[in-house]
Amino acid sequence: MTGAFTIAIDGPAAAGKGTISRAVAERLGLPHLDTGLLYRAVGARVIGGQDPVAAARTLDASELNEAALRTGPVAEAASRVAVMAEVRDALTEFQRAFARRPGGAVLDGRDIGTVICPEAEVKLYVTASPECRAERRFLELRARGAEVTEEGVLADVRARDQRDSARAVAPLKPAEDAVRIDTTALGIDEAIEAAMAAIASRWG
Ligand code: CDP
Ligand code: CDP
Repeated sequence: MTGAFTIAIDGPAAAGKGTISRAVAERLGLPHLDTGLLYRAVGARVIGGQDPVAAARTLDASELNEAALRTGPVAEAASRVAVMAEVRDALTEFQRAFARRPGGAVLDGRDIGTVICPEAEVKLYVTASPECRAERRFLELRARGAEVTEEGVLADVRARDQRDSARAVAPLKPAEDAVRIDTTALGIDEAIEAAMAAIASRWG
């Protein structure tokens, strides 16, 4: 396997995109960008009182502190700023430059295969049932000490899915040539193997 190679991984909240992306990137020796962190960082600044467009335009990669950004309120704020075309525009070039790195890269988000990198060599659309995704996110948030209920997390995941899919700009949807991976009945290792098999079949 030689040459620059970009892998675009999209899908709804807590489908397993990040877990799969990190593992695939490590196995293939590629850099990985979790693009959701960009929107979360803007969302966090908006919670702090900043204007969303100004926040997106002045965002610095050093703000992508995963632990601080993996909260329910920040996820919700992220999906609210993500409907704004000017916010998305301000974050586009950073993502495209990352995707064009020599040797290739793995990016995960909502619009990587459709808008950011439609020329990606491999596109995966990772999904799972809303109940399964909400349970995973509930366990994750609870392990971080958040006071959450399963019903509350399911409602949040459904609201975010709806907002991400229904927005006019760069809505969440599979690229036409994406390989779909449903992780509802898959453990983490099985999901990673399914992704590696899909990559191998596209890459040759
Ligand atoms: O990046 P995304 O929000 O799509 O999901 P993630 O952060 O990779 O996964 C959300 C949670 O589900 C994590 O705690 C994963 O360990 C877990 N997970 C799982 O239980 N089974 C899978 N097949 C994939 C992820
Ligand atoms: O980890 P999870 O899938 O729950 O969320 P995330 O990937 O961190 O993304 C947080 C929010 O940012 C999403 O609900 C989207 O509204 C937005 N987002 C986006 O619009 N486009 C992307 N490429 C990545 C995230």
